Amino acid sequence: MIRTEASDEERQYDINRCLELSVVPELPRVNTPAFVYLDAALEANLDEYLDFLTPLGVDLLYSVKPCTLDFVVRACAPRIAGFDVSSPGEARLVREILGGTVPLHFTSPGLSARNWGVVAEVADYVNVNSLSMLTWLHANASGPRPRLGLRVNTGHSVAADTRYDPARPGSKLGVPPELFERWVSEVSDPPISGLHFHIGCESSTYGATIASLEWLMRVASPLLAGLEYVNIGGGWLRPTGMDGLHDFCAVIGKLRACGVQSVFTEPGTGLVRDAGLLATRVTDVIDSGAGMVAVVDSHVGHAPETFEYDWAPDLYSPGNEVAADGEYEYEVVGCTPLAGDIFGRYRFPRPLEIGQPFFLHLLGAYALARAAPFTGVLLPSLYRVTRAGELVAVKDAEFSLYRDMWRTHAIDRA
Ligand SMILES: Cc1ncc(COP(=O)(O)O)c(C=O)c1O
Repeated sequence: MIRTEASDEERQYDINRCLELSVVPELPRVNTPAFVYLDAALEANLDEYLDFLTPLGVDLLYSVKPCTLDFVVRACAPRIAGFDVSSPGEARLVREILGGTVPLHFTSPGLSARNWGVVAEVADYVNVNSLSMLTWLHANASGPRPRLGLRVNTGHSVAADTRYDPARPGSKLGVPPELFERWVSEVSDPPISGLHFHIGCESSTYGATIASLEWLMRVASPLLAGLEYVNIGGGWLRPTGMDGLHDFCAVIGKLRACGVQSVFTEPGTGLVRDAGLLATRVTDVIDSGAGMVAVVDSHVGHAPETFEYDWAPDLYSPGNEVAADGEYEYEVVGCTPLAGDIFGRYRFPRPLEIGQPFFLHLLGAYALARAAPFTGVLLPSLYRVTRAGELVAVKDAEFSLYRDMWRTHAIDRA
């Protein structure tokens, strides 16, 4: 069982227990490297968000970009108010998986004159990234069209790393605060049904969201009164474990009192991150002369954030569990020739043996989405643990995906 509203440590304990019961006994038939998704963790996250948001009157969307697996999308669909997509490709895939009725919100700086026709056909809401694009749409778009919202950069950031900060000064994402204030004061009949901001990344505080809403209510209150919706974006993790909970609830109440009909939030990571793990096995143990090295059958191309952030995910290592005071230290590395293909350093109570399984935590978001079959090491196979605890193989590692990436229709001529 995976508890809701548990601490991060309790959640990790529950997940390890679930692996111990449902996956470890089945390891002989698990083709590593593999992503393993736990239905119970996804459901616990949905419960946690909905238990918190529903009484507040905030509608939950799932931003599909961290994980667009069909069974994840299908599990969310009956419980949430729609999906946020960021490209015509994502929109098309979600429509293919779910059919035509589910509400789709499209938010992307990639909206263009060339793809507008496709976007207008599949999306119910389009959050436009700039005033120039809004002007273009009004001059050129004809026929039935989705509700239009305007994405604003509120200028309130939470991300420490500017590369991942959508609200930094100079960001391409949304109308900058000063420009928005000027536009609001000058426009007589705003051609929009909603406002959108997404300012967070793995945030564990509501501070910037509260400050953003207070700013909006200060500079745009007459506009808000006529709007159908405000979308406060995603980027936040465990909903009830965040700082500023009380003030967040209060500011949502104030926003609704302004007359806004619907308030949406669209987390991605928070719903799926701990529901997915990367399973891998030790394939070689090397004495480098300057420390022990354990090679695994995966690589950082399967989990790009480990490399980008220099982030060592927590490991569940059944039978020889990682321990801070463990006598045996290893650098755990991937199986490609890239020298920097390193997952991290870990200590164990006993020496590692070939075949030792590892489960790398918190890889349900953005890992598979950005994974690459670097050097021909195929994308991982996929497994799912159902709520009944059954391990089901849902996709094999396929050479065809790798081959299709490199094979072309070119006819080489001498
Ligand atoms: C517009 C928008 N909404 C929602 C999200 C989801 O954010 P997260 O996965 O951090 O919750 C993103 C992520 O980049 C985004 O760009």
